[in-house]
Amino acid sequence: MMDFSDRVLLLTGASGGIGRAIAQVFHDAGARILLADIHEDGVREVAQSIDPSGARTQPMHYDATCPEEAELAVRRCLERFGRLDYLVPAAGIYEDQTFLTMTDEQWRNTLSVNLDGVFYLCRRAVPVMSEGGAIVTIASEAAHAGSSIGHSHYGASKGGVLTLTRCLARELAPSVRVNTVSPGAIDTPMIEDLMHERARTVLEAVPMGRLGTSREVAVAVAFLCSDTASYITGQAIHVNGGSYLGG
Ligand SMILES: NC(=O)c1ccc[n+]([C@@H]2O[C@H](COP(=O)([O-])OP(=O)(O)OC[C@H]3O[C@@H](n4cnc5c(N)ncnc54)[C@H](O)[C@@H]3O)[C@@H](O)[C@H]2O)c1
Repeated sequence: MMDFSDRVLLLTGASGGIGRAIAQVFHDAGARILLADIHEDGVREVAQSIDPSGARTQPMHYDATCPEEAELAVRRCLERFGRLDYLVPAAGIYEDQTFLTMTDEQWRNTLSVNLDGVFYLCRRAVPVMSEGGAIVTIASEAAHAGSSIGHSHYGASKGGVLTLTRCLARELAPSVRVNTVSPGAIDTPMIEDLMHERARTVLEAVPMGRLGTSREVAVAVAFLCSDTASYITGQAIHVNGGSYLGG
């Protein structure tokens, strides 16, 4: 269905569960991909596994909290592949901390990776993105339905991502479409601790009765980037097994 031949994706959080699946789906559809993550060995391993020849992937170390690294990532993408069509800033952290014990530093750290990082990258990528390009941010069910206890910084950061997405959609239309995917509970390293502590509660809130897979998120991201979604901008697609319906 999707053909990304000759298209270039800049992906962050590329060594994570969802990032890796996005890389695979875009690679399968013919894209060339800059794979950026703070976990440099991880991102090299992803590149090696999906593209052993290295012809269509470029791994790089990248820290979402540094504006200079956003600049470098965009530059590296243009140097290696000559263009930038799609931007998916998927890097994120999800730390457990109840509000009444949260330090200013913990608050700032989460906002810095999850929200500032998206701004730094979009701000530097948009001026060089191809006409007809697309940005897909990764918000969360937490941005819409509130978050679980112990994640107010995360919920606030993802609420910010959702609103930033909508603001960009207005300002960048019609040349670049901007949407978000809001995952529910997806089976990745990010929610291992949560599942360890509260698996039953988490699954009871999901009408589909199971965790989502990273691939189920990745195909929604790919759809929103693709020309098939050419009239879709400023929207959130919920990939959450129906849990946002409440219950
Ligand atoms: N897994 C879920 O249930 C879920 C639900 C809603 C939203 N999300 C969002 O999906 C995105 C991907 O999460 P995931 O589930 O794959 O988690 P993950 O922990 O598997 O991956 C997150 C990735 O971000 C990278 N990262 C962390 N800090 C970074 C930094 N400062 N700079 C660059 N990279 C950094 C990590 O190295 C890791 O590779 C995140 O934005 C997350 O908030 C996940």
